[in-house]
Amino acid sequence: MPDLIIDGRAVSVPKGTMVIEAAERLGIMIPRFCWHKALGAAGACRMCAVMFTAGPVKGLEMSCMTPAADGMVVETFHPEAVAFRRSIIELLMVNHPHDCPVCDEGGHCLLQDETISGGHSLRRFPGRKRTYLDQNLGPFIQHEMNRCIHCYRCARFYQEYCGYRDFGPMQNANRVYFGRFDDGALENPFAGNLADLCPTGTLTDKPARFVSRRWDCLRAPSVCLHCSLGCNVTALSRYRRVARIEARENAAVNGSFICDRGRFSAGYEAIPERPRSARLDGNAVPAIEAETALAARLAALAEKHGPGSIAILGGLRSTMETQAAGIALAQAAGWRAPAFFATRTEQAATQAALAVLTPPRARSLAEIGKADAVLVLGVSPLFDAPMLALALRQASRAGAKIIVADPRPVALPLPFTHLPVPPRQFPAVLAVATGSPDAAAAAAQKRLPFAPELWPGLETAAKALAAAKRPALVFTPGLAAALPDDDRLGLFPVLAQASSAGAALLAPTDAPGLDELAADVAAGRVKGLVVVEADLFAAAPGLAAVLGKLDLLVVLDYLPTPTVAAAHIVLPTTTIFESGGILAASDGRLQAASPVQSPGDPVARDGAGSHPPRAFDRPLPGTDPAPAAFLLDRLARGLGLTLPREPLAALAAAIPALAGLDLAALPQDGLRPAFAGLAAPLPAPLPLSAESGLAVIYTDALFATDEPGRYAPLAQAQTQAGPPVLLLHADDAAALGLADGLADGLAVSLECGNRLVPATLHLSRAMARGVIVVPRVPDLAGLPPILGPCGLRRR
Ligand code: SF4
Ligand code: FES
Repeated sequence: MPDLIIDGRAVSVPKGTMVIEAAERLGIMIPRFCWHKALGAAGACRMCAVMFTAGPVKGLEMSCMTPAADGMVVETFHPEAVAFRRSIIELLMVNHPHDCPVCDEGGHCLLQDETISGGHSLRRFPGRKRTYLDQNLGPFIQHEMNRCIHCYRCARFYQEYCGYRDFGPMQNANRVYFGRFDDGALENPFAGNLADLCPTGTLTDKPARFVSRRWDCLRAPSVCLHCSLGCNVTALSRYRRVARIEARENAAVNGSFICDRGRFSAGYEAIPERPRSARLDGNAVPAIEAETALAARLAALAEKHGPGSIAILGGLRSTMETQAAGIALAQAAGWRAPAFFATRTEQAATQAALAVLTPPRARSLAEIGKADAVLVLGVSPLFDAPMLALALRQASRAGAKIIVADPRPVALPLPFTHLPVPPRQFPAVLAVATGSPDAAAAAAQKRLPFAPELWPGLETAAKALAAAKRPALVFTPGLAAALPDDDRLGLFPVLAQASSAGAALLAPTDAPGLDELAADVAAGRVKGLVVVEADLFAAAPGLAAVLGKLDLLVVLDYLPTPTVAAAHIVLPTTTIFESGGILAASDGRLQAASPVQSPGDPVARDGAGSHPPRAFDRPLPGTDPAPAAFLLDRLARGLGLTLPREPLAALAAAIPALAGLDLAALPQDGLRPAFAGLAAPLPAPLPLSAESGLAVIYTDALFATDEPGRYAPLAQAQTQAGPPVLLLHADDAAALGLADGLADGLAVSLECGNRLVPATLHLSRAMARGVIVVPRVPDLAGLPPILGPCGLRRR
């Protein structure tokens, strides 16, 4: 722990800390452009010069390049240091275009801040400026190369931190150019971070361009909804529309960055089709009228068929407050036990995946980035949980071996071993890789059912995990019951959706599943269904198909889904940007999002222009949406019931992992409950078997595969038009008579219920045999787990 003095104040820091960071611990921000806590030092800009007046280093030095050492005395305001930094700024500004009034970085530009705080107000340089041609870097990042100060943050992030090579520095000396060899969309799925990282207006958020200045926006801490990782974001809202999303630092989760899915999937809160008013039998009505009718119809149903004929179904994109209110209402009204958007098996698997996260075994996403060997089992990192790929990249950069066992073709920006095994072989992979004695014996005789080409990879996995000091397993919930009992192996599950963990934590362990609910509706045992923030047509076609059997379908939602269109009564709800709330991430971490805007039509639409209408004496249009938890509470009152004042707190008090936690004051980086382990061993997971036929494996795309993302215009624009693309192993295609050397790109039809969905078939050798990989799109939801021989036909 070196002890040093900075500006007259003593500080002790861990060995290896740079002086620039040591100063931050004292609240002293030394100017910087190239240094970034996640990227480290480059020594490129010379802005962080400080004076070392005593100790092992003397004179003017760069604080980002100098490790703190015992006895150092540092003066950040030494006149020589100040004059040096002043001259650096002046030199950097020689070629800068001074276009702050039209630059989107204006107002949050580090270069602008440092120029002003350095005391510069006049330009002395009379010569011609260096100029460049800009490139079109795709839909997300705007390029304005003349503003560049060559700090290299972008290139270091893009190439070193993320592992992509299509963007970087070119040319040399005074003409270094940061761009691509040719114009074209950036290939890096984390490229949006360049807008946060660039300290000037060279690389800015293209969709947010000319939308608003930073100071015009309302800002609030929020949590990403677009996969289960729970990355922290800041939402910026302007005139009741989310103008942009930025990464928010959380050292335990996403560090300083987020993925492009998380950054560019807002916008659903402002689409014109969003349900903005209550609807009763297809007609827009005042909220009070819909709520009164709803209470009367539910009471009538309960009287006629009993309260058990009414069910509530919670979605997996709701806050825990909403999920808890749904459970409390069902309990108070004596309705059927509430179901969430998962089958009973999936729900039990998710509950087990959380229960095994006992303190010695639970790992955060950031800890996965520090593991020295990681086995990823049944997860495709880049698509199932994009920031996991970036965490694996950091582990790999530090020397970790990464092994991914997944049936789908897997692409990652790092060296890794891919084991393309079908799900039925996951438990065997786990046994071999984690070295259970039986597996080792079987492995020695090669008796386990793996294709011969997989053995070298399996042996690599076993050796790497055995030799590692910080081994980790990233797993799909279905494997929770098969995990070895070994506290050395860190665990990190990847769940289905943003609120899967919330539902698993709150729902009773014997809660029915979506499958049972569908059967009960089909059999007429359920007559009234209240669906909260879920689209049955997108993911539960079995239930959607029997909705006609219901006497009453009620939907509370903020998305204009087909389920909303089919409902007898609709109550519009607020989005997370308007109500905030608590979400549980895939490692069970509880995190709070704050509201950033009030509901209501975006001003651009309401005012038919870019400024608010000047009349203040009328109610805001489109403000009927209310938090779903609030609507459920009002519904309870309409039924003559009283829910607890804080349903989430009341429910949590009875759940061992949550009892005693102060949910109203969650810390900034969230709170991970201490799980106690599996109460009773679960039956071993049921591998999909594909004795005959192909096991169906769904795969996500980077954009628009989560429900809110499908309604986000920008995310939606990134999806490819045309028939969905299916993937099949070339050997399987040959066996099915589909591969004749020309079959790649073959037009086929996929049998889906009683429909034939047109698709395009591509062949791959980088995937498991015996499976068919299907994109997760509503048209293909609800395929049987095994596709029989006639499921796939040439068109
Ligand atoms: Fe959001 Fe998941 Fe991306 Fe994180 S990894 S920013 S939670 S979509
Ligand atoms: Fe130290 Fe750039 S911040 S040289």
